[in-house]
Amino acid sequence: MARRHIEPFVDRDVSFKKFNLPRFPSGMQYKMLSFDYDTGACSMTVQFDSGYTRPPGLSLSEWELFIMDGSIQIGEKLYRKGQYWSVPPGVAMPAMYSKEGAQALCFYNHGEPSFEESDESADKPAEARLVQVNAYDDMPWGGTVLYPATEPGCLVKILRYDEHTGAMSFLYTMAPGFWQDNISYHDCAEEGYHIYGDSWMMQFGVLPTGGYFYRQPWINHGPFSCDTGCLAFGRTDSVLHNYFHYDPYTTVDENIERAAQQLHLKKPELFKWVQQHSHNHHDLSHDHDHDHRHHHHHHEHGHGHHHHEHS
Ligand SMILES: [Fe+2]
Repeated sequence: MARRHIEPFVDRDVSFKKFNLPRFPSGMQYKMLSFDYDTGACSMTVQFDSGYTRPPGLSLSEWELFIMDGSIQIGEKLYRKGQYWSVPPGVAMPAMYSKEGAQALCFYNHGEPSFEESDESADKPAEARLVQVNAYDDMPWGGTVLYPATEPGCLVKILRYDEHTGAMSFLYTMAPGFWQDNISYHDCAEEGYHIYGDSWMMQFGVLPTGGYFYRQPWINHGPFSCDTGCLAFGRTDSVLHNYFHYDPYTTVDENIERAAQQLHLKKPELFKWVQQHSHNHHDLSHDHDHDHRHHHHHHEHGHGHHHHEHS
């Protein structure tokens, strides 16, 4: 299993550690939120110490950065809280400098964190997929466009949508007094981090400020409630579909079975095709090769992470 189910984890309970992977400049600290033992992909709370400097460079994995506090200068421009970047593999970012320091969320999606000093992108066309936006200042809240939908009072801002996989990164908020009385599970993994505020859920209790979960597919979660409002950062690794029900005792196998029955009813032709071809070991993974182009490459360097202790 790639990443373990972690829920809840509260980053306020642990202290920052020095981030000292090769080629990364010093002055960055991290708290590991979740870690993929197969690929090195990870989610972290990070702190850039005041005076942090990083030359122009690129990563061999897709990565995301979201500023929660402080400020970071990239190139000539100063960015503050709410600023978000999604950087495709091989795309170079200008030099980075933080005078006062910054706290951020940082994600490496398909491989271990890497940094190579470079003025130029190794993958020029991928620059078109760079996302940079201030999610607080420059985007309005919207209702979820998913069906079946969560109750009104849960609002989202979609920051990144991978058109090949349906994977998303988004801000979400639950209004004060929000509640939802049903139970949900998904056929994707999802993770969330509370930037501010508490929410409550039947299975896993209160998720406070700094609270985090990495939830694998099929795991029941809900009912939910939120007394005083919360602001959170969420992600999925493929299309988010809400399978709602009211039985807290269903098992993972029962949830899979029910999802498969829905697929059978809603997409009968596709279901039939998958059934007929599943014994042929089709490798469909090359459909997503553009994101993994560099991915095979760094296995040759070995897995030099010393930073994934969790508990
Ligand atoms: Fe969910």
